[in-house]
Amino acid sequence: MMSDKAGSTHAIPTEEVVALLESMADLPYLGEPVSQLEHSLQAGAAMRAAGGDDEAVLAAVLHDIGRAPALRTKGEPHEITGQRWCAEEISERAGYLVGAHVPAKRVLVVIDPAYGDELSSTSVATLRTQGGPASKDEVDAFLAHPWAADALELRRADDAAKVPGGDALDMDEVVALLDVR
Ligand SMILES: [Fe+2]
Repeated sequence: MMSDKAGSTHAIPTEEVVALLESMADLPYLGEPVSQLEHSLQAGAAMRAAGGDDEAVLAAVLHDIGRAPALRTKGEPHEITGQRWCAEEISERAGYLVGAHVPAKRVLVVIDPAYGDELSSTSVATLRTQGGPASKDEVDAFLAHPWAADALELRRADDAAKVPGGDALDMDEVVALLDVR
């Protein structure tokens, strides 16, 4: 469950999170056939379909929030920007899951041979710039984390969320998830 942030001065208002997500509607998703907003809402739906709890579903929706123009930080990978923001505004676990979505790809290509075959060509290309397949030590360290299984599931939801017209959460569902912070 999400930690109770009632009374926190840090939690960003729900409408500001919605505005950040909506600012991604015009962002092309480099080389993919959906916008960044569609991709985010599809990732949430895929995480829910995989049995993810509300916090994990919200993390899936927000996994690329580091690309929102208002948050984007020059010279910093988007998953690091998003991890910091989600840890501050959502929860520690949401922050971890967002930060792990790039390393999770590097791990999955090692532990699941079929996984690499299903990656989009853009995702294969970015894998190289993201450090390529994880080393054995990196895989072991990743899998030792108590939330690693959720991170791998989120990664699979990310990869599935690139289908024009695919299953997606609507913004009201995202608002409902945010309201329980
Ligand atoms: Fe993504």
